[in-house]
Parts: sequence; structure tokens; C-alpha cells
Amino acid sequence: MLREDDPDVAILLAQGWTTVAESWGARLAVGQDVAGLEQVADAVASCGWRTVQLDAGDARRIVDLDAACAEDYPWTPASPHEVPDVDELAARLESGWWAFGAVRVDDRRQLDCVSVLGPRDDRVETEFTVTRASVRGRGLATAVKARSILVLRQRGYRDFGTGGTAANEASLRANLRLGYVLEPRWLSLRAPQGPGAP
Ligand SMILES: CC(C)(COP(=O)(O)OP(=O)(O)OC[C@H]1O[C@@H](n2cnc3c(N)ncnc32)[C@H](O)[C@@H]1OP(=O)(O)O)[C@@H](O)C(=O)NCCC(=O)NCCS
Repeated sequence: MLREDDPDVAILLAQGWTTVAESWGARLAVGQDVAGLEQVADAVASCGWRTVQLDAGDARRIVDLDAACAEDYPWTPASPHEVPDVDELAARLESGWWAFGAVRVDDRRQLDCVSVLGPRDDRVETEFTVTRASVRGRGLATAVKARSILVLRQRGYRDFGTGGTAANEASLRANLRLGYVLEPRWLSLRAPQGPGAP
């Protein structure tokens, strides 16, 4: 796996290696003007959802939602996803991780989208984001991620990171909408196969 700007990429491709998957990472430095993020976070209210912060007591339903969607994560060697263990997730949410979700206004127990984030040395990184299949494409992931940035910004965090596979257009578009800036891609390269291969 190499970054696209690594000089070895051109050499390997010339030798017949092929790109089998591409992953992206992106960074966001939140400034003073957060009106756009507030608008995105509130946009789902008119459709019947509210964005909220979750806690360790929500670990079971976060995991249930993620497990129901596990097959929908596009797989690449650079960004595999494993459904978290409930107890492990609860422990992490009690010791530094955060989770935000979208719940129905008329039924707070109905969790339809969740984004889980964890601290790094220099930023807050998205661990995973998932929306219930039946309600995708309605702005929930974008709204929940916007809420997470707004709340964490109020607590002093300014730098955020996220990433995923190039095959996941919805995830990429949600993050670009929030102002994330793409970093060089990561390429998963496979050696030439068959007779005559080096
Ligand atoms: C990725 C995922 C979380 C997006 O959730 P969502 O609630 O449907 O996202 P949104 O409705 O906020 O849409 C985000 C953007 O993607 C676009 N989009 C939604 N579904 C799309 C699709 N199937 N193909 C392409 N673009 C799509 C939306 O139009 C929007 O872009 P825009 O603002 O430029 O119009 C959801 O598809 C999912 O749960 N996938 C499985 C788990 C996963 O892959 N998670 C991400 C890796 S951590």
C-alpha cells in the first residue's frame, strides 16, 4: 500500500503492478464561521430527525445499527471495518471517544444514523459513520457529522480527520460538503500474476 505521490508507485505500475483499491483521507480545520455547519446539522429536522450526542449507554443500539449495515461497507485493505464489540465500545465512549446520532423527533429510541469519533494526537478522527439503509440519501450522515464537529468545536477541538475507500462516494461527498480537504490517496497495488511475472 503506497501513497499516490510515492515515487515507487510509477515504478511498480511500469513493472505491471495494478491498482486494486484506492482510499482517501481528509482533514478539516474548523474556523470561526460555522453557520454552514449549523445549517447542515439542522436541515434534517424538517424531515423528522434530531441530531444528538450519544453516550456509553447507547453502545448496544449503535452496535445493532452497525451490525445491520455491516455488509454495506465497501471493503479495501486500507480501510477495513469491523463491527465493534458492545462492551469495548461502551468502555471507549466512557474514556475519550464520542458518538453522535440522528434519532426520530417522535421517538428518541429510533436511532437511524451514528458517527463515532476518537481522539488522536493532533486531531479528532472519525472511527465510523453509518446510516440505516432505508433512510440513506436524506442528509443524515452529513447532519450528524456536522453536529459532531459543532459540539466538539465548542469543547476546544479545531482539527478533524476522516477517510474511507474511493468506492464510497456517499461518504466522500458528505465530508466534502462539510469542508474536509482531501489528502493524497492511498493505493493498494497488486503484483503482476501469472507466467513471466517478476
Ligand atoms: C456512507 C453513508 C454513511 C452515507 O449516509 P447517508 O445518510 O446516506 O448520507 P447523506 O444522505 O448525508 O449523503 C451524503 C452525500 O452522499 C450522496 N449520496 C447518498 N447516497 C449516495 C449513493 N448511493 N451514491 C452516491 N452518492 C450518494 C448524497 O447526495 C450526499 O451528497 P451531496 O451533499 O453532494 O448531495 C451510508 O451510505 C452508509 O451507512 N453506508 C454503509 C457504511 C459506510 O460505508 N460508512 C462509511 C465508512 S465509515
